[in-house]
Amino acid sequence: MKCIYDLDQWRELRQTDYNSGSLGFVPTMGALHKGHLSLVQSSIKDNDFTVVSIFLNPTQFNNPEDYRTYPRTFEADKALLENEGVDVLLNPNYDQLYSDEYKYNILESELSKQLCSSSRPGHFDGVLTVVMKLLNLVQARYAYFGEKDYQQYLLVKGMAQAFFLNTEIVPCPTVREPDGLAYSSRNRRLSPKDRLKAPLFYSLLKSELDPKRIAVELKTAGFKVDYVEEIGHRRYGAVYAGDVRLIDNVIC
Ligand code: PAF
Repeated sequence: MKCIYDLDQWRELRQTDYNSGSLGFVPTMGALHKGHLSLVQSSIKDNDFTVVSIFLNPTQFNNPEDYRTYPRTFEADKALLENEGVDVLLNPNYDQLYSDEYKYNILESELSKQLCSSSRPGHFDGVLTVVMKLLNLVQARYAYFGEKDYQQYLLVKGMAQAFFLNTEIVPCPTVREPDGLAYSSRNRRLSPKDRLKAPLFYSLLKSELDPKRIAVELKTAGFKVDYVEEIGHRRYGAVYAGDVRLIDNVIC
């Protein structure tokens, strides 16, 4: 696996070593888990080359404490990616990606204002902006996004269509622990007690109860509820277990 820190070097390699054959891309913020690895495996299956990026994107964190405490496990991540057979790990720094100091950004005016946006203002502006930069840099045939972050997937897909990007956005199913909890980088910050009650979030979300009732049950179980809402045929939820934010969604 080539580990590339310099974007100029990557742009040159993209035109030479990775110019023929199909290229798959998995953008991540590191702290990799089985959910990320399933995206990587899909990319490796579908493509001649797979590029993974690790960049902990500060512009999508509205809460500095969340950014500060976000797990950073670079060496372990690198070993996992090497083991999967990834071709390139891109690991740019902030100055390279944001030479404009975030003066230019991508705004979406409808879906990004719902669900997660009320407690995380500006979050999706940061996500869409960094994903646009990465998609332009990597120029992949396919880019893989997990359905756990379904709102993010829809927004990225909409952006790729709106801006005529050449990359197809591929959704991949949520990967869960045996007890139902969706894999997330933040899970490792759960206290043992909160980890034990966390699967209840998914089991209530997929229950027959209506969203209001689910919110009541979650509160009774000790979660702080951000939202439980249905949009289209999907039910979305976000809760806090202690200070750890969990999100999930199910088809309904
Ligand atoms: O889902 C994530 O990990 C991030 O939002 C992404 C897509 C890598 C952008 O920073």
